[in-house]
Formats: sequence, structure tokens, C-alpha cells
Amino acid sequence: MKYETKKWWEASSKKYQEECKIPIDIHYGPGSPNEKHYKLLGNLKGKNILEIGCGGAQCGIAMAKQGAKVIGIDISEEQLRFAKELAKKNKVRIQLYNGNIKKLPQIKSNSQDIVFSAFALHYVDDLHSCFKDVYRVLKKNGLFVFSLGHPIYSTANSKTLKIENSYFDIGKRTFVFSDPTKKFVYYKRNVGDLHNTLVENGFFVEKIIEPDSRKRYSYDPWYGLWDYTPQLMKMAPATIIFKARKIK
Ligand SMILES: C[S@@+](CC[C@H](N)C(=O)[O-])C[C@H]1O[C@@H](n2cnc3c(N)ncnc32)[C@H](O)[C@@H]1O
Repeated sequence: MKYETKKWWEASSKKYQEECKIPIDIHYGPGSPNEKHYKLLGNLKGKNILEIGCGGAQCGIAMAKQGAKVIGIDISEEQLRFAKELAKKNKVRIQLYNGNIKKLPQIKSNSQDIVFSAFALHYVDDLHSCFKDVYRVLKKNGLFVFSLGHPIYSTANSKTLKIENSYFDIGKRTFVFSDPTKKFVYYKRNVGDLHNTLVENGFFVEKIIEPDSRKRYSYDPWYGLWDYTPQLMKMAPATIIFKARKIK
């Protein structure tokens, strides 16, 4: 079904936001230090920033508080409803669009200083199409910084720590939990695939970061939830971060 992911997030947004209580912060994901630690984005004052797969826009709001002009796009109207309320509570303005980030028709070419995404791109079926459009909307020298689930993490059982899935087994993964009408779908891509998709779309990759998840970061809202067990986080990175640049 084409919109499994949208259906999932429309149904799960409320519970997800209540369960995680994500702080207003530029975060990168489970088991990862935040932007204050990594300093990948530089000074945000006056910068045009597009956040793709913005969810509740906790990152976008933190960026707006630092003086950036932020646009957020998400496939889920429920997530955007939450984001709109949260922006209002935090007294910042961010522009929000509902759409599939596989394409970015809402955004003008060469208009953005930074495109940012935290933990959303593993839900996108066509990463080539997405990266091509991210390249189009970035200004020359613009930054594309994103994080997603580290592909090594999902090879192991989070409780027994036994390897259950091959690292080489890539592609669509579908999970059904208590409600059989809703499917949790993500796309597993290896580190090489992710790097090469960036390069094939014209990006220069400046950094790949594998955050050390052996330590608990006080601001990490996902630590201990679902598969983010302290046992497995001690053994493998849960998150991977890419910093790439449009150099031409
Ligand atoms: C785990 S949440 C992360 C949200 C936010 N970036 C954060 O760090 O809190 C993943 C988000 O990606 C969105 N998403 C998934 N697939 C998408 C797509 N194809 N286009 C736009 N948004 C998508 C979901 O609706 C959800 O809000």
C-alpha cells in the first residue's frame, strides 16, 4: 500500500509525542550527542533552513530560536498539527508543509542554506529522488545534514544481543504490531549505499559520524524505549549522521 507510512504516523503521532516528550533541541537520534556537541551546522542566525520529515519540529523550533528562517515538511498532518502548537507555545514562526519529501515542489531552487533531517529518511522509499531535490533547493556551498537509524543496529536482537538479520539484507522492512491494519515500514540501506547515493547526486561528503551510544545523554528521549535498550546501545551505534555539501 502506497501510504503505509502516512497511515502509521497519523495513527501514532499522539502516542509517540506523549511517550517520547522530545525536548526543544537540535537532536540527531537515539544514543547520540546533540548539535551543541557536534557543531555541524554553524551559526544559524538569518539562515534559511529546510527540515525534511520534521515531525513535531522540535529541531526546527530550536533552530528558529537561534534566528533561522525555518520551513518544515512532513507527510503526517497529525505530526504537523503538533508542530504548529509547539511552535506557538515557543513563540516562534516556522512555515509548515504537508507532503512527501521524496520531492520538494514547495521549495524554490537554490534557496536554502541548510537542509536538515533527523531520523526520517529511512522511511522514504526513493532516496535518489529525495537527494536530487535536496541538491536542487540548496544554495551553492549549502549543507545537507541528516541522521537516520544506523543499519548495523537492526541486525541484532535488542535483548538477547544475538545477530538475527544480515547486514547485507537491504530494502523494505514491514512490521505489524497489535493492529494488523497499520504497518510500520522502513527502508534499510547500508552505509555505502547512503554515501554513494549522496555522491551520485552531486554531494561532497564531509563527515560520517557514528555516535558513541555507550553513554546515556541526559537529553536523549529515546534511551530505553522500544529497541533502544542500554545493552544493545553499549554494543552498536543506534544512529548515523551524514554531513554533505553542495560544492558546485
Ligand atoms: C521518527 S519521526 C522524526 C521526526 C523529527 N525529525 C524528529 O527528529 O523528532 C519521523 C517523521 O518522518 C515523517 N515521514 C516519514 N516518511 C515521510 C515522507 N516520505 N515524507 C515526509 N515525511 C515523512 C513521519 O511522518 C514522522 O514525522
